[in-house]
Amino acid sequence: MPRPIEALVHTAALAHNLAVARRLAGDARVWAVVKANAYGHGIERVFGALKAADGFALLDLAEAERIRACGWRGPVLLLEGCFEPRDLELCSRLGLWHVVHAAEQIDWLAAHKTHEPHRVFLKMNSGMNRLGFAPQAFRGAYARLNALPQVGEVSLMTHFSDADAPRGIAHQIAAFSAATADLDGERSLSNSAAVLRHGGTPGLHNDWVRAGILGYGSAPDFPEHDIAHWCLKPTMTLQTRLIATQALQRGDTVGYGSRFTAERPMRIGIAACGYADGYPRHCGSGTPVLVDGRRTGTVGRVSMDMLAVDLSDCPGAGVGSLVTLWGHGPGGAVLAIDEVAHAAGTIGYELMCALAQRVPVRTVD
Ligand SMILES: Cc1ncc(COP(=O)(O)O)c(C=O)c1O
Repeated sequence: MPRPIEALVHTAALAHNLAVARRLAGDARVWAVVKANAYGHGIERVFGALKAADGFALLDLAEAERIRACGWRGPVLLLEGCFEPRDLELCSRLGLWHVVHAAEQIDWLAAHKTHEPHRVFLKMNSGMNRLGFAPQAFRGAYARLNALPQVGEVSLMTHFSDADAPRGIAHQIAAFSAATADLDGERSLSNSAAVLRHGGTPGLHNDWVRAGILGYGSAPDFPEHDIAHWCLKPTMTLQTRLIATQALQRGDTVGYGSRFTAERPMRIGIAACGYADGYPRHCGSGTPVLVDGRRTGTVGRVSMDMLAVDLSDCPGAGVGSLVTLWGHGPGGAVLAIDEVAHAAGTIGYELMCALAQRVPVRTVD
């Protein structure tokens, strides 16, 4: 028998969340961001549910080939553009649009032989200080690109550092707008947090929004807001079963390092899920978990293949009981991945991307 752990990818929830993005995006077109193997869900698994998007934005050529192999003929955007000159050959062959964030990428384009001019998204560093041309260098890059026969349409983009946080996006919009006011081209500025929180901000104009995490049912600004607030649904469930129970006496400890000590007699269950499955080791006792749909908490340290859960309020639970680590539980119960991430001092993105290879994945409606 295989271990009872499995992950579920919920296609109806993916489609629902995409519809939320589309509604909030207004007239803008929506990139479904499927980098990092669709945030750990699997590009091929999410494709059917997300093909109502206007395009797919992703990281590298391997992912682009996979989305084309799914049968997608529409726009595909490489979010970091090319990593070396020969990447341009595949861009030409697969009709990929690509970000241009550095002068070297323009040099490569200038030396590239292609029949079809490329569509590029010129990226401004408006304050994130990660990728992109500084505002004062942006117009020069724009002019260079427009002069190249290898380049067709030039679109303009930037990326927000604080769309989910108090600092917000106004300072970056100001930098972007000042440097691009009279430049032709479609604009793409907003990520999920900007779509959710900053629609209608003066000066924010998107022809394309880039919706990543919201599509996967995680709130970028948790705990300020949760997915219920944003009307999003979890798209990934991690579930397993209890494989043992233990009756503890007062003073008994649980797991490596004896991090938990029972203050009274209590029952715990041992679930077949550990950090080697992608469950975070850095969450302390009390991290929320569902047992047969009932909310309880973890107990002690997470080990490689197992973790312990408190069964004090789950009298009917025993070996075989369903344990939902995140996502959808029985009876309509929901445990947002953000709650688990928060308990581990991280974000939903990291947990979904870190789902381990060894966990079998099933696609459900
Ligand atoms: C350039 C760019 N656009 C869009 C996204 C999507 O962000 P989110 O998942 O927060 O919507 C990312 C993700 O990091 C990104 O790097």
